Amino acid sequence: MYDGSTPGRNDECWCGSGKKYKKCHLQIDERLQECYEEGHEVPYRNLLKTPADIEGIKKSAAVNIGALDYVAERIKPGVTTQDIDNWVHEYTVEHGAIPAPLNYEGFPKSVCTSINEVVCHGIPDEGEVLKEGDIINVDCSTILDGYYSDSSRMFCIGTVDPEREKLVRVTKECVELGLQQVKPWGCLGDISQAVQDHAHENGYSVVAEFGGHGIGLEFHEDPFVSFTIPKGTGMVLAPGCVFTIEPMINMGKPDIDMSDPNGWTVRTKDRQPTAQWEIQVAVTEDGYEVLCW
Ligand code: MF3
Ligand code: CO
Repeated sequence: MYDGSTPGRNDECWCGSGKKYKKCHLQIDERLQECYEEGHEVPYRNLLKTPADIEGIKKSAAVNIGALDYVAERIKPGVTTQDIDNWVHEYTVEHGAIPAPLNYEGFPKSVCTSINEVVCHGIPDEGEVLKEGDIINVDCSTILDGYYSDSSRMFCIGTVDPEREKLVRVTKECVELGLQQVKPWGCLGDISQAVQDHAHENGYSVVAEFGGHGIGLEFHEDPFVSFTIPKGTGMVLAPGCVFTIEPMINMGKPDIDMSDPNGWTVRTKDRQPTAQWEIQVAVTEDGYEVLCW
């Protein structure tokens, strides 16, 4: 297992693949060292997932995707956010997994449900009823056999006014455009720039305080994935990096309000609508693989 030391060329690779170092991570390590010496931020080895890790994450993701599909089939006007929490909890547990949000830093429920002006971390509640015209983010995260998956989707409840519908669509496009930038030896700023350009072109703003994160063996690993940094900056991407792309895009100003006494619910300061989609991706030898959506 990885102990921080560099193996000899003919020794076993530090990643546990069983292959010789020269046939496994040697070239990646050398290239990362060059990037580091050029002054770039680079991922530590412990952030580079092995093929076995990726397989584990995919099994976890299958449950996470299934839970969101389960919600998608049932969500409609009249449903409460507690109903959504019950669906996600039941589905996840029935598939042998654990909802990652439950008890995470004291979070009381199994999923985050964020309606209209709620930016993120909305807490499901039996008194909160979805009504025609609402837009809601359902943010689902799963632990299976120690592997973490995380993705979120927006749902339009019944008929939604065209402005909100556009916000939901453009935010999804932001994620897709960010994803196109994911490749080895690119960097996080390339993703960020693509996301913010598309948001700004549509008159929207990007939340700075929250973003994506490394994920796999823990819920939130390094790096922080900002969507407000410029192209060409931020951590260099290497094969095996796994992280989320999850921009929060506001119809109005980017400022947020974190004063809710429950300690979790984040709102836009101007109470204008906000949207978020989240996917989990792996950097591959020649681009990316979407692991969870
Ligand atoms: N799923 C969120 C994310 O994308 C994290 C939620 S933390 C919780 O990172 F505790 F609120 F669940
Ligand atoms: Co996330």
